[in-house]
Formats: sequence, structure tokens, C-alpha cells
Amino acid sequence: MINIQPADLIGTGVHRKCYIHPENADQCIKIVYRGGQAETIREQKYYRYLSQKGISWEMLAQFHGNIETNFGTGAVFDLVRDYDGSISKTLDTYFNLTDETTVSYSNVIQCLYELKHYLLEYNIITMAFKPKNILYKRLSQTTGRCVIIDNIGNSDFIPICTYNKFLGNKKILRKWKRFEKALSKEYLNNADLKHILLQLRQA
Ligand SMILES: Nc1ncnc2c1ncn2[C@@H]1O[C@H](COP(=O)(O)OP(=O)(O)O)[C@@H](O)[C@H]1O
Ligand SMILES: [Mg+2]
Repeated sequence: MINIQPADLIGTGVHRKCYIHPENADQCIKIVYRGGQAETIREQKYYRYLSQKGISWEMLAQFHGNIETNFGTGAVFDLVRDYDGSISKTLDTYFNLTDETTVSYSNVIQCLYELKHYLLEYNIITMAFKPKNILYKRLSQTTGRCVIIDNIGNSDFIPICTYNKFLGNKKILRKWKRFEKALSKEYLNNADLKHILLQLRQA
């Protein structure tokens, strides 16, 4: 049994609270606080499938199984950290800034482009891409990597896209287009970003 303290909280999502693993600084524990376990079961089934396939975990936080905690059953994942040890922040956090002071947007966009290719290569299906579910892991002051932390898998009744790369890739591209459109609409106040998003859509 793992004993989590409220101060270990990293972030709160739509359904889960995410805590630093008290016994491993490179892992986090996610605990459902709203809604049922159905989504967790679906997600974990998909992670197991990806593990069996032997994909690279470079841009997707790896799942390490469930553990019992004082707050209930928790799911253990890699905790994403920047080069300086601080916990990586979501794209949403960086895009909500009004200017480009902390990160280079052109690098973030380059990383998104690489993420898209990584997802296509390993045929990793997501429910929807959201800037709150993608972290920008800073590798230096000017470089980084995008890492997905949530919302992967396929909720289709017959999930053929999971097993068929051709159809899966088509689905990924469709969702990616939607994501790009949503980004341009969502961060209208961020002029630096707006300018650079055009490059992503043309890439
Ligand atoms: N692997 C991770 N590394 C670092 N921070 C994370 C990680 N996973 C989640 N977080 C933080 O916790 C928040 C909630 O996690 P998330 O998995 O998105 O929950 P939910 O499924 O409820 O949306 C995220 O927005 C992020 O700030
Ligand atoms: Mg989330």
C-alpha cells in the first residue's frame, strides 16, 4: 500500500488526479475522482496492446500497472520532466501565455510535427487531441519533445483502426486536422502562436 499526501498532487484532469509517486520521482499515480472505471479499463487495455506490439515510448507516457494507495487504486505512469527536473507543462499552459517568453513556439510546433509522425509510425490512436493532454518536455532552453499523457485508444464499437495501419493512419490524420483547426481558434489572443500555427498546417 502506497501512502500519498495531498501535497503530492501535480494536476487535476477531467476524471483523474495525478500525484507524484512518493517512492519514485520519475513516476506518477493517477486516481479517478469523478466518473466510473470504464474509461480506465479501456485505456489500460489499449496500453497493454501497445506494449505487446513493442512500440517506442518516446512521445507517450508509459503505463506501469496499477497499485493500491490510501486514496484508492491508482494507475502508475512515467512522470514527464524537463531537463532541469521540473515537471513538464501542458501545451495549453504554454499557449495560454500571451507571448513567447518561456519556450520557442517554432520548436513546439516542430515537436508537434514530430509527434504526428510518431503516432502514424506506431499507429497510435487517440480519442481526440487536446492541448491539455500533451506535455511539452523541455530538453534544453530551446529544444523539447511533445509527450501525450491522456486520451489514447479507440472507443469504436469495432476498433478495426487499432489493428489496421492503413485505416488507423487515416483516422489519426483526420483527428490531427481537427486538432490544428481547434488550436488556431482556441488561442486567438496569442499572436506569436497564430503566426507559427500556419506553418504546422502547411507542413
Ligand atoms: N505523465 C505525466 N507527467 C506529468 N504530468 C502529468 C502526467 N499525467 C498527467 N499529468 C498532469 O496531471 C493532469 C491531469 O492528468 P490527465 O491524465 O490528463 O487526467 P484526466 O484523464 O482526468 O484528464 C494533466 O493535465 C497534467 O498536468
Ligand atoms: Mg486529461
